[in-house]
Amino acid sequence: MKSKHFPKSFKWGTAISSYQNEGEYNTHGKGPSIWDTFTNRKAFKKGNGNTATDFYNNYKEDLLKVKALNLNCFRFSISWSRIFPLGVGDVNPEGISFYHNIIDRCLELDIEPWVTLYHWDLPQALQDQGGWTNREILNWFETYVEFCSKEYGSKVKTWIILNEPMSFVGLGYFLGMHAPGKKGLKNFLPAAHHVTLCQSLGGRIVRKNVKDAVIGTTFSCSHVTPLNRRVIHKKAAVRIDALVNRFFIEPALGLGYPMDAIPGLNRIEKYILPGDEDLMPFDFDFIGIQYYFKIVAKFSLLPPVLFASEVPAVKRGVNINAMNLEIYPKGLYKVLEKFNAYPGIKNIYITESGVCFEDELIEGKVNDKNRISYFKRTFKYTLKAIEQNIPVKGYFIWTLVDNFEWAEGTKPRFGIIYTDFKTQKRTIKKSGLWIKRFLSKR
Ligand code: NOJ
Repeated sequence: MKSKHFPKSFKWGTAISSYQNEGEYNTHGKGPSIWDTFTNRKAFKKGNGNTATDFYNNYKEDLLKVKALNLNCFRFSISWSRIFPLGVGDVNPEGISFYHNIIDRCLELDIEPWVTLYHWDLPQALQDQGGWTNREILNWFETYVEFCSKEYGSKVKTWIILNEPMSFVGLGYFLGMHAPGKKGLKNFLPAAHHVTLCQSLGGRIVRKNVKDAVIGTTFSCSHVTPLNRRVIHKKAAVRIDALVNRFFIEPALGLGYPMDAIPGLNRIEKYILPGDEDLMPFDFDFIGIQYYFKIVAKFSLLPPVLFASEVPAVKRGVNINAMNLEIYPKGLYKVLEKFNAYPGIKNIYITESGVCFEDELIEGKVNDKNRISYFKRTFKYTLKAIEQNIPVKGYFIWTLVDNFEWAEGTKPRFGIIYTDFKTQKRTIKKSGLWIKRFLSKR
């Protein structure tokens, strides 16, 4: 497989996010986000993103590296509280300029800037009023998206409304493992519904403000299989699939929430106001698939409503990443096939895929052969999907440089460039050099 086998227009990019990279968390006018609060608590033991990869100060050099690796698109997110320190109200001129600088630098280098509007770092001031559980967020989000799309719309054509809603709602408002650390259905259900409404609302605002905008939103996707052929496990897999793969895309497509698979989800109806059903769909130009691992599901009594859980990969003797999740490249093909089966999907981008290991820098080199193998195999499955007429139009590598992996801290390294977190020195890993060579033949 060579890069020239992909269509000429195929986009090759890399993705990063504001909280995981920027640093300068309480300077240059930025207000606190829920992740600043969450990681700076005493009880949190995995470090914090206060400095992260110091992208705020390193963006020029980092973008040069994107160019040097022959990647032609750069996906980054805007930190809401760097623009609106209190979530709404006064804006922060320094924050506004920062994103102009990134965009201008991309354009100078002939790299397409792709903007994600929300990659999990909600302003703390909004969380203090309930965050995603408060329906007022529709107004707050509207103000924020209106501002960003008007401010940057003449330079940025590709817009992503949300990054992986199920991750931030599930981990942040149901399991309490991510910021803001909320738990239970009473948080999950209202948050989920307001996120669904903002997913389409954001799309409509960008459509109105940006001429020729290409608008998408992203979903975390997993290939889900049952533990074995017993009916109870097969049904458990159907429920997990509904929760992890179907929950946020189906309302966007006008199909509503997947209550057919999880009847207990009907408790969400309490938060659905008259007229909401008409506001849930949006005609996205593309959807972003974000694929990392496979899930094996089994029946279980907990959690209630779902009655299903994952069989940990470590117990199954399979190939795992540094977060103990199963590495399964073929699953990318499976999810592409699955999402493509929905009527109404126009284009698909793999807006994230990658793999983490505890890479080590030895004598100035990182020999991450296993990451090269992951990319070779997922690229091959991407090509196979294209050959099957699945409209996959690009692949964004997660991620450029090792960064702050949320609740896991800096141990799992996803970068194709190694970060020394003490000095911020970057070293291109063997996988980065491989990507560069692979793309040079285009
Ligand atoms: C998806 C998220 O968008 C990103 O922030 C995260 O680092 C990767 N998954 C890896 O877990």
